[in-house]
Amino acid sequence: MSFIRFQNVTREYHVGSNVIKALNNVNLEIRQGDFTVILGPSGSGKSTFLNLLGGMDYVTRGEIYVGENNISKFTNKERTLYRRKDIGFVFQFYNLIPTLTAYENVDMVSKLSDVSISADEALEMVGLKDRAENLPSRLSGGELQRVSIARALCKNPKLLLCDEPTAALDSETGKKVLITLSSMAKDYGHTVVLVTHNAAVAPAADRLIRLRDGEVSEIMDQKNPISMEEVFW
Ligand SMILES: Nc1ncnc2c1ncn2[C@@H]1O[C@H](COP(=O)(O)OP(=O)(O)O)[C@@H](O)[C@H]1O
Ligand SMILES: [Mg+2]
Repeated sequence: MSFIRFQNVTREYHVGSNVIKALNNVNLEIRQGDFTVILGPSGSGKSTFLNLLGGMDYVTRGEIYVGENNISKFTNKERTLYRRKDIGFVFQFYNLIPTLTAYENVDMVSKLSDVSISADEALEMVGLKDRAENLPSRLSGGELQRVSIARALCKNPKLLLCDEPTAALDSETGKKVLITLSSMAKDYGHTVVLVTHNAAVAPAADRLIRLRDGEVSEIMDQKNPISMEEVFW
């Protein structure tokens, strides 16, 4: 059985008298240790999907299983703990604290949890060990995003969830960030879920899931995905 399972998941939002179905009866599975790409145009439900999986939002109907847990049945307190302990998030914007160095930004989070990875190790994993003492203002966009990946990784999360992490980066820098993310699955065994509207990334996925208008339009397994270095756009 898969590590993650969405079963008939629907998320509706009520706006005035309108009901918006951000996700409509979604069924899918994600394997442990895979690099999974969720691809879809703007408004297709990608962020809603990731927020549900990361315990930042809750379903209207359906079940979400992560490992042994049915997270859709969690209480608020259980959801908070799950978010804090099990999930690493990477967003489009890095949200680093400007007055703390790269090292301190990562170390602060690693001290919040019963960690298995030090800030040094996490920065080394993303190739930024020699930049650790710099303030965010001295780092490039790609470096900032890799610090935020290190911050997400230092609590050794069960899931690394990334919502359009390259949307604010130029293509070359974005590619370096994507290489880092795919390496977290390939070289370190993390389960990585990348949400993007950039179809160029698709051939590098172990499993590709396409969303359209809140529904799954395709699920494709790729036995021999290309390496992220070969992705071109
Ligand atoms: N909190 C919310 N309230 C109302 N509508 C929302 C909310 N979040 C998302 N939506 C709507 O749900 C749909 C899917 O949104 P989203 O998951 O953000 O898509 P994507 O990330 O693929 O751009 C969109 O139509 C969006 O406007
Ligand atoms: Mg989004």
